[in-house]
Amino acid sequence: MKVTVIGSGYVGTTTAAVLATLGHHVIGADVDSAKVKKLSAGILPFVEPGLDEMLKDNILRGTLTFSDQVEEAIQASDILLIAVGTPSLDNGTADLKYLRSVADTIAASINDYKVIVIKSTVPIGTNRWLSDYLGEKVADRTLFDVISNPEFLREGHAVYDTLNPDRTVIGGNSQDAITIIKKLYHQLNSKLVICDWETAELIKYASNAYLAAKISFINEIAQIADKTGADILQIAYGVGLDPRIGTEFLQSGIGYGGSCFPKDVKALISTADLIGVETHILKEIESVNESMPNVYLAKLADSLDKVTNEPWTISILGLTFKPETDDQRESPAIKIVNKLLPACKEIRILDPTIQSNTKTPWPNDSKIIVCQTIEETLVGADAAVLCTTWDTFTSIDWNEAKAYMKNPILLDGRNLYEPNIIKAAGITYLALGRGNQT
Ligand code: UDX
Repeated sequence: MKVTVIGSGYVGTTTAAVLATLGHHVIGADVDSAKVKKLSAGILPFVEPGLDEMLKDNILRGTLTFSDQVEEAIQASDILLIAVGTPSLDNGTADLKYLRSVADTIAASINDYKVIVIKSTVPIGTNRWLSDYLGEKVADRTLFDVISNPEFLREGHAVYDTLNPDRTVIGGNSQDAITIIKKLYHQLNSKLVICDWETAELIKYASNAYLAAKISFINEIAQIADKTGADILQIAYGVGLDPRIGTEFLQSGIGYGGSCFPKDVKALISTADLIGVETHILKEIESVNESMPNVYLAKLADSLDKVTNEPWTISILGLTFKPETDDQRESPAIKIVNKLLPACKEIRILDPTIQSNTKTPWPNDSKIIVCQTIEETLVGADAAVLCTTWDTFTSIDWNEAKAYMKNPILLDGRNLYEPNIIKAAGITYLALGRGNQT
């Protein structure tokens, strides 16, 4: 099938490469010429395991091309997948300016029948709006159908998730268009949910909000565990063994970040507000998550106040919102650094995806020192704070590493370490809800 993926960001590029691997002829279209040039040369503008090989293979096979001539790319295909960004506005609602601009381009260039698919996460009602909007602008209403087909991939596992989806949600009001999209994905053999636009849109928001709820829930239980001497890892395991609950997404820590959970929970709350539905759980998911950096930092401050009156030097291990990605959007590590900055002399950051201050949110702050080795990161530190579970941090020999620190204090924001091992190295181990060991 001939497919144009409009928007060569994270979701668009992954979808384009996977569809090309499945044997479709795919054009990745984007108005950003510099990005198109890079992608055409097989260069990914972000980190995603396995995607660069897939990109290069398909470019070489001729099944995947990129173009900044969006109108031509639209005319060349039968299926248009829209994967443009829908960032949060200040009031929490999703900003649909990129989608509106794509709609105008489609209206100006449509030449024959197209199935227009929205992959981006969009507020409830957006697919219906797109169908109505194009209906007004395109003289022949039979030239298109609109399908909602939300994306559920995780950063860091994008290729696997796109090739092995738990489910494929196809929302629309045209059986012919639904059949075409079923055919597009038929090799993936995933469970299908065929529904209307609004149901498809809400499946996406409800999925992300539910996962975020599991995290905020376990983070609240971790605070109760902390005060009662119970162990949150065993609690999460014991609770998760009930198949109705499941063990996944019950890892407590400094909170969730990334481009999806924070934005989608906010957007769902805003939608509910707009339509007069009072949300309770959704608001609490967000407020628990916002509070987690402070919960952890209160422990750190207590411990540091006992050993120093001077401004602190803190080592930050990991700045991205999770490992295997260079994405720092809404990362709890960034909130932690921002909160620490006023009390600090220096903040020394180590992250495998960051080589200089220019790749941090503080390019000109002389207190921020980007380091390349664990030794360099820990030199003179009053404490180290583990924020992201990069593999390389798992293998740190804390018996050796301790020697570089001024005060051997480790705040484990992700429950990465075994408290007894860290304590045996002579380090004060701080975490949340790790039983009587912390
Ligand atoms: C998420 C959804 O998983 C995916 O289905 C959707 O399409 C996009 O949003 P992603 O943002 O890539 O994917 O990250 P994910 O792996 O879900 O992690 C999100 C955040 O939650 C990370 O900051 C992670 O550290 C945190 N998290 C995750 C926890 O704190 N505890 C957990 O148990 C799981």
